Amino acid sequence: MNHTVHFASDNYASVHPEVMAAMAAANEGHDVAYGADAATAAFDAAVTTTFGDHALGFPVFNGTGANIVSLMALSPRWGGIVASEHAHINVDENGAPERVGGLKILPLPSTDGRLAPDQLARYAGDLGDAHRAQPLVLSVTQSTELGTVYSVEQMADLTYAAHELGMRVHMDGARIANAAAALGVSLKDATAGADVLSFGGTKNGAMLGEAVVILAEDLRGSLGHDLPYLRKSTMQLGSKMRYVSAQLGALLASVDAAGDPLWLRNARHANAMAARLRATLAPLAEAGALRFTQATESNAVFVELPRAAADTVRADFRFYDWQPGVAPDSVECRWMCAWDTREEDVDGFAAAVARALETAGAR
Ligand SMILES: Cc1ncc(COP(=O)(O)O)c(C=O)c1O
Repeated sequence: MNHTVHFASDNYASVHPEVMAAMAAANEGHDVAYGADAATAAFDAAVTTTFGDHALGFPVFNGTGANIVSLMALSPRWGGIVASEHAHINVDENGAPERVGGLKILPLPSTDGRLAPDQLARYAGDLGDAHRAQPLVLSVTQSTELGTVYSVEQMADLTYAAHELGMRVHMDGARIANAAAALGVSLKDATAGADVLSFGGTKNGAMLGEAVVILAEDLRGSLGHDLPYLRKSTMQLGSKMRYVSAQLGALLASVDAAGDPLWLRNARHANAMAARLRATLAPLAEAGALRFTQATESNAVFVELPRAAADTVRADFRFYDWQPGVAPDSVECRWMCAWDTREEDVDGFAAAVARALETAGAR
């Protein structure tokens, strides 16, 4: 079997053994379908322990589904969703928000994946204009698509500004665990200011499974009522939900001897591996052989290097080009680390990058 660890995506990673064990434990005989099962009850309890008594979690199959269900729940038919131009909902969901949800995305420019409060003014003037999609929801991604992380203060300022304008806030938390680990805060604090969260599991050691989590106390009644119907009609209701719930429950509630939950251990490790990759490559950046294009604040390293060198490395390791580089014949790549990326994987990959840059004459 080929055990090469790639740097393409945290989706390439295997399933964490504690998640597998939780699924095996749920795999006992019959239990009620569609969520009235013991594993889902345990997940529900973990949601309130993690996010607060009023939080309500709804397991779904994937991140795109979590986003669409969340945004449909938050937006009326005439609403628009303000988001960064890099948002997964804007560029990487094949128009699912538009096609499935009938939602209009209102993109804003961003150089590092984050949005600033004053940018909301771009669409705020459309409020009350029947000819314009109403900017009623802000969707923020934490950690961002570019591997950066909003500080707690930045997120508080942005979500405050959105709420002041009468907008609701959705958080795409496909990598919220990485953000919380990077910030050194609880999931509750990392999601403060969001009304509805797409809680990510798949990139954090699960097999498949995410959840829509209603965080805003004042939405618990209305959205708590709507979500079961919305989830079913958008094809995100799993009949054997216990297996999805068991995974998410393990991430939230499976603790080690030090009391650290699995989500934190996995995310902390993935972030540390990205930091190691960046530190190992730093001398090459200082020598001008490659260029870091974003801060490494979570589990991603964004880098520009000669296309020839990238293609040489790609013979042994998979990773994605992000966009053409600024320099001629160069490319910007995204290198992702996961919970199961080992130090020796990072070191082997960094050595392959160094060799390829040498061959390409970049150092
Ligand atoms: C920021 C972000 N949101 C959501 C998703 C969810 O994607 P999927 O529908 O593939 O689970 C991803 C996956 O790459 C992502 O990076």
